[in-house]
Amino acid sequence: MKEMMRTRWRIVWAAAMLFLFTGAGLVFTFGTRGPSRTAALIASGFSPKVAPILDQSCADCHSSLSHRPWYRNLPVISGVIADDEGRGKRFLDLTMWKQYSRGRKIGFLTSMESALDHSEMPPQRYWILHPDAKLSSQDSASLRQWAVDQLHGLRPVNRRPVSN
Ligand code: HEC
Repeated sequence: MKEMMRTRWRIVWAAAMLFLFTGAGLVFTFGTRGPSRTAALIASGFSPKVAPILDQSCADCHSSLSHRPWYRNLPVISGVIADDEGRGKRFLDLTMWKQYSRGRKIGFLTSMESALDHSEMPPQRYWILHPDAKLSSQDSASLRQWAVDQLHGLRPVNRRPVSN
């Protein structure tokens, strides 16, 4: 009888834990790549063409909407990735795009162009764990074209040179 009670409590306990973790899972899956994060990026000022690319390959590190894959909990790997995400976001938070000054945007777009030309982003140590984050050459070209177009918009060619 006592043994049965104990088993029952164990079941209740297990159910409570399961409930707790599923709840936590729902909270922490917010910010995973997908339609809702793509929509957040569009709202942040990116075109519907580039937003899905940024969502897929950049937003895990360059946005406040990053997700937490299971391997993030492994020692060593979690350290490396957490560091990448932290530094990446501090450097450029895509969800802040509208708030960045014209000068900062020019800086970001210029470095984006060069990072894409040299296949530096996303970092290799990242896409090895996340093969779907690797940019296809087509996506890389679309993103680069977008950056070049933005730069043209921000730096009108017909502006008179500053006289000194
Ligand atoms: C694994 C996380 C991660 C991903 C994914 C990632 N970045 Fe980065 N990115 C970083 C880190 C870390 C830095 C270095 C920041 C610093 O200098 O402190 C960086 C730097 C940059 C720079 C600055 C130039 C340079 O080469 O240092 C640009 C531009 C950039 N990222 C754009 C992108 C774009 C565009 C994507 C998607 C195609 C992307 N990043 C994906 C982490 C990431």
